[in-house]
Amino acid sequence: MRSHRQRGAIGGASALAGLLCATLLVTPASTAASATPATNSAATRAHHALPYQNPRLSTETRVADLLSRMTLAEKVGQMTQAERADVAADPGQIAELGLGSVLSGGGSTPAENTPEAWADTVDAFQEQALSTRLGIPLLYGVDSVHGHGNLNGATVFPHNIGLGATRDPKLAERIGHIAAEETRASGPQWTFAPCICVARDDRWGRTYESFGEDPKLAAKMSQMIEGFQGDGGDLDDPDRVLATAKHFAGDGFTTFGTGEGDYTIDQGITQASHAEFERLALTPYVAAIKKHDVGSVMPSFSSVDWTEDGLGNPVKMHAHQELVTGWLKQKQGFDGLVISDWRAIHQIPGTYAEQVATSVNAGVDMFMEPFSGDTVGYPQFIETLIAAVEDGAVPMARIDDAVSRILTAKFDLGLFEKPFTDRRNIDEIGSADHRRVAREAVAKSQVLLTNRRHTLPLSGHDDVYVAGSKADSIGDQAGGWTITWQGNSTHQIPGDTILDGIEAAAHGEVTHSPDASAPIPAGAHGVVVVGEHPYAEGFGDVGGPRWGYDPGEGGVLRPALTMQLSDADTAAIEKVCAAAATCTVLVVSGRPMIIPPELLSQIDALVASWLPGSEGKGVADVLFGRRPFTGKLPVTWPRSVDQEPINIGDSDYDPLFAYGHGLRTGR
Ligand code: BGC
Ligand code: BGC
Repeated sequence: MRSHRQRGAIGGASALAGLLCATLLVTPASTAASATPATNSAATRAHHALPYQNPRLSTETRVADLLSRMTLAEKVGQMTQAERADVAADPGQIAELGLGSVLSGGGSTPAENTPEAWADTVDAFQEQALSTRLGIPLLYGVDSVHGHGNLNGATVFPHNIGLGATRDPKLAERIGHIAAEETRASGPQWTFAPCICVARDDRWGRTYESFGEDPKLAAKMSQMIEGFQGDGGDLDDPDRVLATAKHFAGDGFTTFGTGEGDYTIDQGITQASHAEFERLALTPYVAAIKKHDVGSVMPSFSSVDWTEDGLGNPVKMHAHQELVTGWLKQKQGFDGLVISDWRAIHQIPGTYAEQVATSVNAGVDMFMEPFSGDTVGYPQFIETLIAAVEDGAVPMARIDDAVSRILTAKFDLGLFEKPFTDRRNIDEIGSADHRRVAREAVAKSQVLLTNRRHTLPLSGHDDVYVAGSKADSIGDQAGGWTITWQGNSTHQIPGDTILDGIEAAAHGEVTHSPDASAPIPAGAHGVVVVGEHPYAEGFGDVGGPRWGYDPGEGGVLRPALTMQLSDADTAAIEKVCAAAATCTVLVVSGRPMIIPPELLSQIDALVASWLPGSEGKGVADVLFGRRPFTGKLPVTWPRSVDQEPINIGDSDYDPLFAYGHGLRTGR
């Protein structure tokens, strides 16, 4: 297993750290270098002059040694994560501030979005980190949530909701491994994935990031962590990354309409009893920690309000000492690092100094404070936390614990020995082998909801008439967290659309007419591909003030999100179902969409395709019977939006299709 750091007090290290505390200001790298030249250059590092530089010593010993040499400012620097764009503007900040980590936020890519440019960016930042007095390498994080989706050319897998439909944890592990290989070969050594969230209300904009509504399913699928990290001791391999279980906890379990500010469901408030919270929100974390030894955990933006205590006292997860330190670290023995979510500490009540002290004391170890400049971010975080320790608002032991956890991850990842990107797998990014696994996952994720008169599978000899807004749109089928944070219908990534898949599989004539305006040839079988426009996070919430608005694409208004099919898609279904020999409807979406009874009665076969990603051919594989349909619903499919939240086990459960439903075809 991953080497286990000594828990609790750091012993002799903290006494020494106390002495070193006198030097509070960050020492400029150059001055520091002349003071201790023996620890500075790459050449001398190879001599393992100091215990922490010696790979033959245990991680525990190395961490304690390094910690004993660090000033408070250096420690706080390690606890700080900045965003790529701000750092790129002045990479010298990495050395000046002694930053411990940099992330690429959604869509934050180098100017040229290629694997080489990514690796060059990470390596250039790494050089800065290595130029510091102690030469502590940088950890670089990114949201590889369905493959390394920010990178153009990466293999883009189905979003988690589709993987939940496969009920195949081993497949999730293989996908995690491929995503890890593609991520690490292009530089980042850390992914903010998987979301082991349990989506209880499908109106939530992150429903598709969830493996499903049953906490036991999310726990099972958390096997993906082993794909990312390997099986213990593998983290320094060039095809593994540190994983993150997120968002701890209750992110998918908030109460509609009780959110703060602009938010409705996303980042809202979980109102639950302790027992209910334990079952629905915490279950997957037990598996992630105890079974899969996940390396990091990201708290949720949301708050918890215990019903036993009487509602009205919500506590932000980033401030929740009882859950983050008490339950996660002490009770479950989580020995990895807790990384705050994007500026999430700014939502804690109080001044910035109070927000920082509260979250550090709650047990958060590293802080995603992306910005510099006018927006309060990483430079202010560093100043504020140093002052909080000096004032006694944050104990030194807490700092030492946080830094030990961060350094442990860096040692386990092998960054002290091999700080630069190992590019040997760079040609594997988007390789045929990887795409084959993605295609298999797509096929296994398709859920056949209805199939009258054995409409599916289609015969390869049939003529096919393809309609609907999502038939030939790789941007729509990839969804959010692809190229940009929100994703977009207009994005073009390497891969195949569902139409491409149908054209490759059908031997008969294929006609494509998005709005079904082209005449339907006699005897042709209809396939209408309908669904949602891409979105991410709160912008995907159904209802609420931010409905349909996406600032990520220059303030463009998008179709509002309602769980209803668009009029154009509905019209296409009606036209095709009225005239084609049979009609199959594929729903490309991050959650169930409402199919009214009068429409359902016209449809011969209905399929939930979820957000399949780059491999549309996987959809064609099941449509044409090359593979059987085996997927099962990972969430309940409601009759109407007002049934939300609707989940298996509800006393008045009356869904259109129940959790676990899914017809089989073929073998
Ligand atoms: C970033 C995302 C981040 C989000 C948080 C966006 O600008 O690209 O990575 O999750 O902000 O609000
Ligand atoms: C999201 C996280 C993500 C982070 C970095 C946040 O807005 O909630 O899931 O890891 O941004 O992009």
